[in-house]
Amino acid sequence: MSIAVNTKNDVFLLNTKSTSYAFGVDDRGLIRHLYWGKRIDSVEELEIPQLTEVSTNDPVFEITKEEFPVHGGLRYKEHCLKATFADGTRELVYQYCGYDVEKAEDWEELIVHLRDDHYEFFMDLRYRVYPQYDLMERSVELKNQMDSPIQIEKLHSAQFHIPYEGLNFSNVHGHWGAEQQRFVQKVNYGKIIIENRRGISTHNHNPYFILDRDATETSGEVYFGALRLSGNFSGVVEQTQYGETLVQMGLNSHDCLLELAPGESFTAPSILCGYSDSGFETMSHNLHRFARNYLLREGCRPVLYNSWEATEFHVNSQDQIKLAKQAGELGAELFVLDDGWFGERHSTQNGLGDWYVNEGKFPNGLEELISAVNDLGMMFGIWVEPEMVNPKAQLYQQHPDWIYHYETRVSDTSRVQYVLNVTKPEVREFIYNMLDNLLTRYDIDYIKWDANRPISQTGPQRDIWYKHIQTVYDIVKELKEKHPNVLFEACASGGGRIDYGILGIFDDFWTSDNTDAYDRLYIQDAYSRIYPIKAMRAWVTDCPNFLSGRVIPLKFRYHSAMMGTLGVGCNILKFTPEEIELSKEMIRQYKEIRPIIQEGDFYRLENPSANEYFLYEYRKEDRGVLFAFLPQSKVGHRGTTIRLRGLDGDGRYTLNTPEGPVTKSGSYLMNRGLDLRLSGDYASVIIPFVKESED
Ligand code: GLA
Repeated sequence: MSIAVNTKNDVFLLNTKSTSYAFGVDDRGLIRHLYWGKRIDSVEELEIPQLTEVSTNDPVFEITKEEFPVHGGLRYKEHCLKATFADGTRELVYQYCGYDVEKAEDWEELIVHLRDDHYEFFMDLRYRVYPQYDLMERSVELKNQMDSPIQIEKLHSAQFHIPYEGLNFSNVHGHWGAEQQRFVQKVNYGKIIIENRRGISTHNHNPYFILDRDATETSGEVYFGALRLSGNFSGVVEQTQYGETLVQMGLNSHDCLLELAPGESFTAPSILCGYSDSGFETMSHNLHRFARNYLLREGCRPVLYNSWEATEFHVNSQDQIKLAKQAGELGAELFVLDDGWFGERHSTQNGLGDWYVNEGKFPNGLEELISAVNDLGMMFGIWVEPEMVNPKAQLYQQHPDWIYHYETRVSDTSRVQYVLNVTKPEVREFIYNMLDNLLTRYDIDYIKWDANRPISQTGPQRDIWYKHIQTVYDIVKELKEKHPNVLFEACASGGGRIDYGILGIFDDFWTSDNTDAYDRLYIQDAYSRIYPIKAMRAWVTDCPNFLSGRVIPLKFRYHSAMMGTLGVGCNILKFTPEEIELSKEMIRQYKEIRPIIQEGDFYRLENPSANEYFLYEYRKEDRGVLFAFLPQSKVGHRGTTIRLRGLDGDGRYTLNTPEGPVTKSGSYLMNRGLDLRLSGDYASVIIPFVKESED
């Protein structure tokens, strides 16, 4: 049983395999946090401490560890919820009114019922426990049962209490072409805020928190949570004056107002959270396993070829067929026709919104290309940017009122495009029908759904910041019901849409337009902390790289991209015979190791060398793969030692090293490790290994 309740003192204990979370209801009816950490077994031992005011200027609320602090009373720290009632009252006072437990095969959920002391306004705190993943999911459901509306001005989904000061907070910063730049910051007195106000992008920060006490990959305490929301979020970390650190995450209240009509309810996006006393690796493994088993579509992702970097907007049937032939020859399984196939789309200037096939480029329709691709044994994918319209497009000329805008202001363009107000029923219907028609008429297996600008000028509706992305989710869900075999890729100018909200609604995720194989090692390392490898699309592209100008050997580029779901984006018609042979070999090898990469456990291994080696391990059951990269040799010819992790100490493993097969025990490989020396710049190697059978 994962949920234990002591009805004598209203204390709740939520247990996963190795962690516990506890809270209780005090004599004032407040929901008080009691514990989060390593597993404890008995709910009977937990007590709710009596609190006494520090001084009249430090009211008792300041030291009350509330699970879900609301705005009102003598509360001065961050609150999770602020609401305004129709009579102008802006204070909430809640009462505890019982709990329920719901169960399913893999989880148990505790629902703690709260109601306002005066108004017919209800708050259900939800705690879903996934014992085998060592994870919990927290959320809150609000219900208005009055006959007047309630305005929700601020809503964070949960508050967490960590009983330490001086923690390390880590997240990512970045922008287009430089997503997932990991940063670590010491938490001190005051607040750290991460957020997104752009409506679409997660380029700048990502909706998760990691707080650790000087943890490493394999040791130390880590508290983490990932918000299941794309679009505007905010997260606050606050080290208080009273010896603890608070974290909250949820909808960003910037310019946002939700109205709960009479009878309406609203469930806040949930936060998937957990605790590890064995470093970051456990955190990543738990999240990855959960995402793979619960959220993401089953099966491995195909090796794709995407023509964007080869042809940009200059697409036409014959050239794409030539590329498809070569891609098929190399071993690609999916051919994706990117931007430029529709309307008057010859550059960024026009076309978005006019989703008819450009006859000049495809005189025999899309069918010609699709059947050529299918005849080559590949699936066919296509690029769309459904939420957008160019000012010159016919769609905009016909429906100027479909975009987010203010009548009295000049409408903003970015990449020469406006954002459609997808929450208008007629716009939503247009987008759904356009995609449904495309998928019904053509044999399309894969949609790359892009979004290349942030939202602005949202008009009078202040709930757009939430509703826009929910409408996108709904359209995709509905399309998948009708076209269940189609895979959807989320892209937003590269890695602008990756979070635990979109995982599972979409199936494939474009990590970054930055395809420089060296930059990618950093991007992928940071990405892998939270997101599963199966959700990390990585392409091999041409050199000099269009962003960095760097020239990197093709093998290193392949190896770097093989760390995720492999794609090729080169102008493969210009490949030399050697490049063709190497590509065939790399793609063949990738297919062989793909289940280990995409569905195995991932380890960021330690590099004990003074040389900058990047060392990684993937392992699924008895098979594994090591990746080693040396971008630049700095300290003479110094090698490194790869200490593997997660093996069976008594088992014997054969590694296919560049020098030939090596068989060693698991304990040797994990403790003594395997010596490796790479030399030169951009050196890399892949070492598959297998556990020998015991008989
Ligand atoms: C964005 C995407 C690219 C490509 C272009 C097409 O920038 O990230 O991969 O699809 O749009 O315009």
